[in-house]
Amino acid sequence: EKGGFDTFMEKEIFDQPDAVRDTLLGRTDSEGRLALDEIRISEDELKNIDRITIVACGTAAYAGMVAKYALEHWTRIPVEVALAHEFRYCDPIVSERTLVVSISQSGETMDTLMAVKHARDLGANTLSICNTHGATIPRESDAVLYTHAGPEIAVASTKAFLAQITACYVLGLYLAQLRGGTYADDAKKVMAELQEMPAKIDELLGHLDRVREIARFMADTRSVLFLGRNVGYPIAMEGALKLKELAYIHAEGFAAGELKHGPIALIDAGQPVFIVVPGPDTPHGLHGKVVSNIQEIRARGARTLVIAEEGDEAVVPFADEVIRIPKSAPLLAPLLAIVPLQVFSLELSTAKGLDVDQPRNLAKSVTVE
Ligand code: F6R
Repeated sequence: EKGGFDTFMEKEIFDQPDAVRDTLLGRTDSEGRLALDEIRISEDELKNIDRITIVACGTAAYAGMVAKYALEHWTRIPVEVALAHEFRYCDPIVSERTLVVSISQSGETMDTLMAVKHARDLGANTLSICNTHGATIPRESDAVLYTHAGPEIAVASTKAFLAQITACYVLGLYLAQLRGGTYADDAKKVMAELQEMPAKIDELLGHLDRVREIARFMADTRSVLFLGRNVGYPIAMEGALKLKELAYIHAEGFAAGELKHGPIALIDAGQPVFIVVPGPDTPHGLHGKVVSNIQEIRARGARTLVIAEEGDEAVVPFADEVIRIPKSAPLLAPLLAIVPLQVFSLELSTAKGLDVDQPRNLAKSVTVE
């Protein structure tokens, strides 16, 4: 059942091209229009949405943060991401024109369920992105978009995360299509780029030997930092979460632009820092800004572990290690950038002799508040 792998987690990391492919499959009707699975929200109501609030916990919330950047760019609808347990008790502002999107692998997370019920009671439209057919959260929601990652057994989420991001992209492109005009034209182009992602993840999975080696030499490491910007920022936080869960190592993810506002004080000789570098084509010159960040921390002694696109030579002079990912559209890059970080944590956990599939103190589904 582990498909020849030592752990479920490793199998699930290698399932990721299929998780993305299957989540995209069958999403378009005969006219090429995207469709949701189960909808009790009319097209008119969806067209009327003036605000989206994403509620989720943990890894699913990081998928939501990635989605915020993409959905706002493609639809120009304001998107807020709230941790479900915070949303429920903060007197949230929602109306009939708010779409509350919950993201949950299990569909049973109590915090997320309570947030959905609360939103529904306040009159919002609720949409569930979920990996488990017939689970409680999709049953309690007005519309469902299932992720087709297949059962996820390892406690630490990997393939469900990629499938959640993919489903969010599908939702964003669907809403862009409903807006029509240039929004719909652009959505069509992005959909074509999205269809190419499974093959790119597959290719990446064949080139991760060096990450494994780096991890094996870091079994005694006490702290690792992760930096990212734009969609790379939630990836930095997800990378840090994986390391905490799997290897019990202190880890923190930061927005790279935040460095000079405090965290740079943490950098001293030998401090390992992963940097998720946006592709050179990312708008607003973000690539150059992150390269400067790498330079700044390297000058203070950090050991820089750089995740950068193939062909990005600008990072080389400041990198102790360069981990290459295939080129992709900037907003879709999270589907690639997280993969080496998952493999890093898996390998480090294994090197420490820990239980990869069942880390201490954790349960797969958190059904209490
Ligand atoms: C991290 C992890 C958790 C879950 C979170 C939400 O690896 O697995 O952070 O992502 O507990 O769970 P679901 O998606 O089932 O609602």
